[in-house]
Amino acid sequence: MKELNFDKWRALFSDRTTVMRASDIRDLLDVATRPDVISFAGGLPYLKLLNYDELELIVTDLITGNGCFSFQYGSTSGYLPLKKSIAEIMAAEGMTVSENSLIITEGGQQALDLISKIFINPGDTVFTEVPGYTGALGAFISYQANIIGIGMDKNGMKIDELESQIEQSLKCGEKIKLIYTVPNYSNPSGITLSLERRKHLIKLAKKFNILIIEDNPYGMLRFEGKPIDNLFKIDNENVMYVGSISKIFSPGLRVGWVAAHSSIIEKLGYGKQSSDLCSSSLTQMIAHEYFSKTDWRGNVTKLVKKYREHRNAMAATIDDLFPPESSRSEPSGGFYIWSNLPKYMNTTDLLAEAINNKVAFVPGKAFYPDDRGKNEMRLAFCTVEPDEIAEGIKRLANIIKGQMKLYSLLNPKEQK
Ligand SMILES: Cc1ncc(COP(=O)(O)O)c(C=O)c1O
Repeated sequence: MKELNFDKWRALFSDRTTVMRASDIRDLLDVATRPDVISFAGGLPYLKLLNYDELELIVTDLITGNGCFSFQYGSTSGYLPLKKSIAEIMAAEGMTVSENSLIITEGGQQALDLISKIFINPGDTVFTEVPGYTGALGAFISYQANIIGIGMDKNGMKIDELESQIEQSLKCGEKIKLIYTVPNYSNPSGITLSLERRKHLIKLAKKFNILIIEDNPYGMLRFEGKPIDNLFKIDNENVMYVGSISKIFSPGLRVGWVAAHSSIIEKLGYGKQSSDLCSSSLTQMIAHEYFSKTDWRGNVTKLVKKYREHRNAMAATIDDLFPPESSRSEPSGGFYIWSNLPKYMNTTDLLAEAINNKVAFVPGKAFYPDDRGKNEMRLAFCTVEPDEIAEGIKRLANIIKGQMKLYSLLNPKEQK
């Protein structure tokens, strides 16, 4: 084929593509997938605990007994029996939802894309907690949102800061559409939004007529403490709930959903039609069989135990070996620990050195819509076994301490 000169198409690409971000850490993270690297980079669920004999039977039965349906197109809003299973999954977290308030999507990620598609005009304001989930930031950016990051502390997004930002945005004539949060064991920080702040957040959304996106893939992965009411449980009018089976069963099946007011579900359906017509019938049916016929709650219990061990190993080794000038989040569930290093550190530079030492993480700046996060990093404990976690953290700690030593040699005055 003739060599293409990409500049040739520049005038044809949509304005949208000019704001889509090419990640400058992608190449480094590609290297991190090599088997000899201890990678705290990817949030890949631990799948070794699944019962594959049981899954083989489910899939075989679906193909031999129900092939004409499982290989066929399905309805845009999703496979009805699976919606019933989803209602049960949500009930397990104390929420009630009816089938016409649900649409099944290709993972939670498509849900975020479709929500952005139906709500965001170029320039509309979207508030998001920061550090925030990169996939959500990417979706908002693709639809040319004006993203405003609201800081977090150990109780989650600072709702007072959000309130003053809303008022400021309104004064500037901005059109505010959405507030995004991962209230339970957030990706990337591991932080949970307190009940008091949840209530305050909903109050604000109602007062200013804004919709909240509650993205909750980790809610069931709770290691300790009592569950806190989900936003959708407190208010199903101003809250759009995004769910996913990726972290409690399988990300490969690509099944997620939105629970929201039926008028929103209808519009999401129009958006999905032009995106993929419908989600895969086969994977929806596999998911339905799994959630209706197996002991999926038992598997979640096993996952929680396993992830808790991983979290404990990572937290203990960080506390032992990271320099006292650093701090970390204290996740009581989920996949991630967030680490803050001294202000002068640059975790993107650190990643290159880490990969040389066969350990990886995601630099903090990937989780901000602006230039914050330079000295921060996300450490995922989900996939790496505890003894490897200890080894990886040891390598990282040595690199961090080495950089800090170098900095103090070069800047002797600042260290005093
Ligand atoms: C907060 C959050 N939302 C959404 C997703 C997307 O998940 P999926 O599309 O697999 O459901 C992820 C994946 O890591 C996530 O962490």
